[in-house]
Amino acid sequence: MTTRYITTPIYYLNAAPHLGHVYTTVAGDVLARFWRLHGAKVKFLTGTDEHGQKIAQAAEALGKDPKVHVDEMAEVFRRMTKDIGATPDVFIRTTEERHYKAASALWGRLIESGDIYLGSYSGWYAVRDEAYYDESEIVDGKAPTGAPVEFMEEPSYFFRLSKWENALLKYYEDFPQAIAPLSRHNEVISFIKGGLKDLSISRTNFTWGVPVPGDKDHVMYVWMDALTNYITALGYPDSDTENFKDFWPESIHLMGKDILRFHAIYWPAFLMAAKLQPPKRIFAHGWWTANGQKMSKSLGNVVDPFKLIETYGLDQLRYFLMREVPFGQDGDFSNAAMISRINSNLANDLGNLVQRVLSFVAKNAGARIPTPGDFTDEDREMLAASAQLHDILIEDMNQQLLHKYCEHIGDVVVKANRYIDQQRPWSLKKTGRPEDEKHMETILYVLLETIRHVGIYYQPVMPETMGRLLDQLGQDLRTFEDLKTPLKSGITLPAPEPLFPRIETEAA
Ligand code: ME8
Ligand code: MG
Repeated sequence: MTTRYITTPIYYLNAAPHLGHVYTTVAGDVLARFWRLHGAKVKFLTGTDEHGQKIAQAAEALGKDPKVHVDEMAEVFRRMTKDIGATPDVFIRTTEERHYKAASALWGRLIESGDIYLGSYSGWYAVRDEAYYDESEIVDGKAPTGAPVEFMEEPSYFFRLSKWENALLKYYEDFPQAIAPLSRHNEVISFIKGGLKDLSISRTNFTWGVPVPGDKDHVMYVWMDALTNYITALGYPDSDTENFKDFWPESIHLMGKDILRFHAIYWPAFLMAAKLQPPKRIFAHGWWTANGQKMSKSLGNVVDPFKLIETYGLDQLRYFLMREVPFGQDGDFSNAAMISRINSNLANDLGNLVQRVLSFVAKNAGARIPTPGDFTDEDREMLAASAQLHDILIEDMNQQLLHKYCEHIGDVVVKANRYIDQQRPWSLKKTGRPEDEKHMETILYVLLETIRHVGIYYQPVMPETMGRLLDQLGQDLRTFEDLKTPLKSGITLPAPEPLFPRIETEAA
């Protein structure tokens, strides 16, 4: 059975969610919904990263106890997940008991394997990135990301990252597909080849973290704690369960390119040291920028996704995010781009197709799905276009090419509009010849069958609107398996209603 374990990063609770978080979670949701419709066994995980200095400082600035702060903020992120229509199977918080248990157990494994030792760290740390930087990386007194750094000197436990250099290189050589896109794979390889230093994995100068087992002066470095969430959610340290054995080998970690190194270097090394399999696939997507700058909570230049939902609609936003930017590349956000996408792809192409066909059926075919006669070559070609989608879309989703997924469905919509213009079913209605009337019904059948395919395949991206579309088509059977049975004739259709209003503004 096809199995998929799809994860988003767990987000920091230092500020409210923005478009960037929505992006990754929608991407994960589209994958999860797709594989469920395919009949796969799916686990989709998202959640919140609640420890560390960055969160402790955010709470302090608000005059709140960190636990009170994260309890409030976790609810905000949970609500965001719901408001964007995401359907995680597990929402994890790193302050949960099960996570303490998993993180402590992993630490214990690494002690046993000899991969952790006590030493002392001195060097640069950026709280904003929760990351250590090498002296050589510091530019004008700042991290390469522009984050302020502070000099730190404290006792620290270390993970023997250097020991895993060759194993990591070998792993990525054997499984080049493990990191996508390819440019990111190359980036990771050259970083590893540049040499890996042992990693400081504990802190003593604050207490908001998972305590280091057996040493109450230390809390775990927040990334050591956070990365473990991916196996906490599968019940680690119980790794001998069906849950763990089914899902862990099928993991797909989605994230932005900002945190690729943590996922592609630290995490697989921790896992190898604990004798667990590294993640199967790491996909690092690009950044949404605002006026060319990465949108970030810390920089305060964020786009509010909830305003966009209010203005344009949820499915419109989901579609825009998936379709506008090739998954893996950066994209600059603008309202103009969003309006143009909605108006051309959704209102003009898809909305018009559905409206034209359904209102024609309502007026001229007794508001019922007609029984087709013999198919012409053109009819067959149109039917083939949607029948071929299945394999194409599976491939898109196996590669996480979410923009391609939308594009491939969109191509069929464009083709269907061309088909209707060429076939001119309205002209066949007027002749009064029964064979013309039958041909008209055949054309309508072909169009309804095409729309059914489009509606079913677009569900992962636009679940609510496609639900309404399939209602209008009188279809209760909505999985990919259901597409193997041809559209049934004779079903009475409700009065059609528009799906995607055009956005009218001065700019548009
Ligand atoms: O890094 N464009 O959390 P975080 C696209 N807690 N995606 C963006 C984005 C942007 N401008 N801004 C944020 C953390 N994201 C850690 C993760 S995982 C074990 C721990 C998305 O709140 C993108 O997925 O800073 C990015 O990687 C993530 O939010 C960072 O979220
Ligand atoms: Mg961040």
